[in-house]
Amino acid sequence: GNKTFTMIKPDAVADGHSGAIIKMIEEAGFRIVSMKKTVLTPERAGQFYEVHKERPFYADLCKYMSSGPIVPMILEKENAVADFRTLIGATNPANAEEGTIRKLYARSIEANAIHGSDSDENAAIEGNFFFSATEQF
Ligand code: GTP
Ligand code: MG
Repeated sequence: GNKTFTMIKPDAVADGHSGAIIKMIEEAGFRIVSMKKTVLTPERAGQFYEVHKERPFYADLCKYMSSGPIVPMILEKENAVADFRTLIGATNPANAEEGTIRKLYARSIEANAIHGSDSDENAAIEGNFFFSATEQF
């Protein structure tokens, strides 16, 4: 697959890291297909993370993800999903490799700076959650 979906999460936007993160993404060879700054309501955060609804951290995650602005993006690159997850690093920044976005900019396992889709199928679903067809080019 050649596309993935990401969002810069509320902690990284609030900490003023959006520009540095976008620069890392472009320097890693990803083309920005779509991008905006927006806010999720708790209800829309709940829809986005529906797959995690049975997990113990779901309520906290929905509250956190609706706590401030986010920067969602659709990105294009060969092998996008896997290469992007390498660029962002492990879910828990304590376990993330040196030089990854989460190692550099995350606050905690929950406030971990950035999202990356885990499959081509979810990348398409998640991209379409934020962007209409005329916003993807
Ligand atoms: P995403 O790219 O955001 O999907 O992260 P991921 O694929 O590395 O992790 P996963 O899909 O398992 O979890 C989704 C999000 O839930 C994470 O990015 C964290 O923000 C949050 N999360 C995951 N595990 C925990 C946890 O144990 N505790 C808390 N509080 N939040 C967690
Ligand atoms: Mg995930």
